[in-house]
Amino acid sequence: MPTIIVTGGAGFIGANFVHSWLATCEGLVVNLDDLTYAGNLESLESVAQDPRHIFVKGDIGDRRLVAKLLKKHGPWAVVNFAAESHVDRSISAPDDFIRTNVVGTFNLLQEVRAYWKGLPADRQSAFRFLHVSTDEVYGSLDKEGAAFTETTPYSPNSPYSASKAASDHLIRAYHHTYGMPTLTTNCSNNYGPYQFPEKLIPLVIDHALNGKAIPVYGDGSNIRDWLFVKDHCRAIMAVLKKGDPGEVYNIGGNSEKTNLEVVRTVCTIVDEIAPFADRQRHDTLITFVTDRPGHDQRYAIDASKIENQIGWAPEETFETGIRKTVQWYLDNAPWVRNVTGGAYRNWMETNYGKRGENET
Ligand code: NAD
Ligand code: TYD
Repeated sequence: MPTIIVTGGAGFIGANFVHSWLATCEGLVVNLDDLTYAGNLESLESVAQDPRHIFVKGDIGDRRLVAKLLKKHGPWAVVNFAAESHVDRSISAPDDFIRTNVVGTFNLLQEVRAYWKGLPADRQSAFRFLHVSTDEVYGSLDKEGAAFTETTPYSPNSPYSASKAASDHLIRAYHHTYGMPTLTTNCSNNYGPYQFPEKLIPLVIDHALNGKAIPVYGDGSNIRDWLFVKDHCRAIMAVLKKGDPGEVYNIGGNSEKTNLEVVRTVCTIVDEIAPFADRQRHDTLITFVTDRPGHDQRYAIDASKIENQIGWAPEETFETGIRKTVQWYLDNAPWVRNVTGGAYRNWMETNYGKRGENET
């Protein structure tokens, strides 16, 4: 099987993708990741000695390095996961989001285009550049609004979603102008193993397991459409193989929940599998805190295009996926401990220190 390059493969979804790819024995994976706070080699420990996995520490914006890797490995496809991905961080410090998500993606695209142009005709038409994006580029829905389709106009509201929207537009333009065989996937919120505990679900699990206050922004009524990460990885593999160049595919879990529902579900599972000695319920830890500025009310994905054209559908329901996820965090306490060092504690201080409890 031919080689692929993934970027950001030491992050949450990228690491799950590398594991899924290698588990299905699909050839060599070159993994380019700059190991920011969100990238962790512990997530790749089980494949560290696998000769089919080559890890390279580096920036997607380092054009010399990218050109060298493309030349050396001659990949059939590049899958771009690398990004700054946390909305709250994009609010307090947007600079890195522009640097990586916009300028980094541009630099990566330029080098991939040069590589692709130099391929013989048959390899040129078989080549794919898959850009992993988010449903957040479509903006916010009200409770009754129809779910996002691939033709929903872009309306990003946070520096994170604006930077991802900019990168999506570059991908579109490189297909339209240069004929590059690009694919874009816009996915809803993921959860599962190896997610850094700054995002809602792993943070709630970590706090519930450790008896710490569980911060819910605003009144907890915001809605997200949750997808188990392994289903996302299967979708990306399917789009790589069956997607039409230049096309966009929305990926979602058909699983809309309010944040409060998500938090209560996690608390109930923890009550069951890791009860407090005194049997106190974990939802007593819920603390309503000051809302996120510009907080999008609702995201929902209409995934009928990928279902009808590619034949993909999620395998996990929220109920099965969240149970597996809580169990994974319970079984992998050392992983959580290793990734939540000093930098993580500083972030918790910065983000939550200034959020007072609210009156809700
Ligand atoms: P993550 O923050 O967990 O991981 C990002 C990875 O990219 C890290 O390993 C980091 O070290 C690496 N990285 C950052 N800047 C880099 C750079 N300049 N060069 C090379 N590597 C760099 O993110 P994630 O949750 O795994 O998300 C992966 C992709 O999927 C992102 O593009 C994100 O926008 C998209 N996405 C995420 C979700 C979600 O719910 N997590 C949903 C839809 C789409
Ligand atoms: P998050 O995991 O940051 O993903 P995104 O903002 O990209 O959707 O947050 C998911 C939802 O949970 C979002 O509505 C914000 C909310 N949230 C909390 O209520 N408390 C928290 O501590 C965090 C991190 C998020």
